Amino acid sequence: MKKILILPGDGIGPEIVAEAVKVLDRLKADGLSVELEQGLVGGSAYDAKGHPLPEDTLAQAREADAILLGAVGGPQYESLDRPLRPEQGLLGLRGELKLFSNLRPAILYPQLAEASTLKTEVVSGLDIMIVRELTGGIYFGQPRGVRTLDNGEKEGFNTLVYRESEIERIGRSAFEIAQKRGKRLCSVDKANVLEVTELWRQVMLRLASDYPDVELSHMYVDNAAMQLVRAPKQFDVMVTTNLFGDILSDAAAMLTGSIGMLPSASLDADGKGMYEPIHGSAPDIAGQGVANPLATILSVAMMLRYSFGQSEPAERIEAAVGKVLDQGLRTPDIAAEGQASVGSAEMGDAVVAVLD
Ligand code: NAD
Ligand code: IPM
Ligand code: MN
Repeated sequence: MKKILILPGDGIGPEIVAEAVKVLDRLKADGLSVELEQGLVGGSAYDAKGHPLPEDTLAQAREADAILLGAVGGPQYESLDRPLRPEQGLLGLRGELKLFSNLRPAILYPQLAEASTLKTEVVSGLDIMIVRELTGGIYFGQPRGVRTLDNGEKEGFNTLVYRESEIERIGRSAFEIAQKRGKRLCSVDKANVLEVTELWRQVMLRLASDYPDVELSHMYVDNAAMQLVRAPKQFDVMVTTNLFGDILSDAAAMLTGSIGMLPSASLDADGKGMYEPIHGSAPDIAGQGVANPLATILSVAMMLRYSFGQSEPAERIEAAVGKVLDQGLRTPDIAAEGQASVGSAEMGDAVVAVLD
């Protein structure tokens, strides 16, 4: 029996995770052998226990076979000392569990071509995999902080640092994914300015000889951002640093109609994973019951595929999402102008109803 740790988090987190749990419960009823356990992370953990990643949550996470997380953060926590902020709970989990490989698939459901802010012909058929390095780079680099200079002025600083071994392991993840897809890998860097990403490029080039069937290309991140909105279908797999991947994946999400559509998997070297939508806690709509739960539901599909090796139920979930979109069900973020919309619970129930 596999154990799944459920971490709803903050804001819309509990609302969307509740819908994904309905899907898991339905799969359990159909024979999927998993048990669910709840835990606290982020602001809700701080409120209950005084820390965004309590010791017992970390212990639960280490023990679990996979983790499903909603989202963390909110304006009420922004004035806390940095180590106590909700985001540190998420970063702590990623770092402690060594979840270095973050897969963010941007796939356009054809039913949502109209929901994209880009022209239909630009996005139709879109299927990109962004591979984001998740436990290094400027998010974790030392030194970091704010110091006061001799003249009394403050100076803030962070460090963008990558070791060859860190670049190599995310590079290998990306090459292996590309081998199973369209065999094209675009490595995104800023090698024209930043030494660390020049090293990134050299390591990717070195790795390429181990994957002769994959066509490797390189692109500067500013151009990549532009190309993603100009002609996104040129990409198959993209691999990039922690910060660049964070930014590019939000942009890619919008190609699919809404940030509420993009799931993710964060994997360690052994395939243990944490699964979460790429969006945040959406404080502007939290508590209204209107958040799109599909990214979280699709994250369950990624969990089944990547952590449990079960592609059949994963495909059932993905097909069910297609069916509810066929039925015309839309949360407000993916509804066309003037089109009626449904709430999170109605969307979740509809997915469960068509799971067959
Ligand atoms: P956000 O992703 O929470 O929201 C950006 C916009 O997208 C908002 O207008 C929001 O309403 C909308 N949106 C997001 N998810 C949606 C969904 N499922 N359905 C419909 N609309 C959706 O980003 P933000 O506003 O920059 O950040 C809010 C908080 O979330 C911050 O505290 C931030 O640190 C945190 N955050 C957490 C995560 C995470 O837990 N993985 C990711 C990003 C941001
Ligand atoms: C994400 C989020 C996180 C990140 C934040 C909340 C720490 O934006 O998962 O994309 O920057 O990685
Ligand atoms: Mn982000």
